[in-house]
Amino acid sequence: MVTGGSRGIGRAICLRLAGSGVRVAINYVANRQAAEETQRLIADDGGTGALYQADVGSLEETDAMFSRIESELGAVDLLVTNAGIARSGDNLAMDPGIWRETIQVNLHGTFHCVWRAKDKMLEREYGRIVCVSSLLGLKTNTISAERLIAYGTSKAAIIGFVRYCAAAFGPHVRVNGVAPGYIDTDMTADVSDEAREMLINATPLKRIGEVQEIAELVNFLLSDKSSFTTGRTHVAAGGMGI
Ligand SMILES: NC(=O)c1ccc[n+]([C@@H]2O[C@H](COP(=O)([O-])OP(=O)(O)OC[C@H]3O[C@@H](n4cnc5c(N)ncnc54)[C@H](OP(=O)(O)O)[C@@H]3O)[C@@H](O)[C@H]2O)c1
Repeated sequence: MVTGGSRGIGRAICLRLAGSGVRVAINYVANRQAAEETQRLIADDGGTGALYQADVGSLEETDAMFSRIESELGAVDLLVTNAGIARSGDNLAMDPGIWRETIQVNLHGTFHCVWRAKDKMLEREYGRIVCVSSLLGLKTNTISAERLIAYGTSKAAIIGFVRYCAAAFGPHVRVNGVAPGYIDTDMTADVSDEAREMLINATPLKRIGEVQEIAELVNFLLSDKSSFTTGRTHVAAGGMGI
């Protein structure tokens, strides 16, 4: 099950997993057309994907979505909490609405999904969870700090959440995080050319990341190839921040 599977990094994760034979539950909140496009791309590749609309920021909607998935596809073995928003406040007196919405979707949304999935994973003694954080949860962007307080805080909290869940859910359930750097998606589409240039210059690999590069890391963390890894957040940022 992949939250925010309709676009960007989430869509690439859905395609990568479906390509390895996984039946994917594709979550989205508003963009039905984009979610259908993810589903179509999976089908074109010979895979199986089903659509599930829910706002992960809502406990009730998340709970109902998991019940639908369980009755239609079975219990969730692999969970990727990827849904996220990056709203900007422009000054230090940040709009409390932006703070609440960001924490609700990014942090509480992650919590709602993990909490709903974990009991069946623990019962069945099998489960793999990957939570999508961000490099901004590990490193502070000091240039645009005031615009990123809510987002950076939500992503830093996910890294702590991953550690604690890994400690609590072992030995049969593994929980890891991924922290992407600057990736080309709708979320970063309004970054100015000047800022883009600065970000590329600050990246040893001298480019922006692609969604498939994050999907590949997520696939690895969900697979048995990463069997001795849990509780860690793995950075894919072209070396930015090292
Ligand atoms: N792009 C980057 O540079 C970057 C860097 C570091 C971390 N990340 C993280 O990677 C994740 C994916 O980012 P992206 O760049 O792919 O973003 P994106 O292109 O803006 O896509 C966001 C996805 O999240 C879904 N979503 C948003 N709010 C939701 C909610 N309340 N409930 C369920 N789904 C919701 C959207 O669904 P709809 O299509 O229905 O709106 C969409 O599928 C996010 O957690 C983001 O913070 C991104």
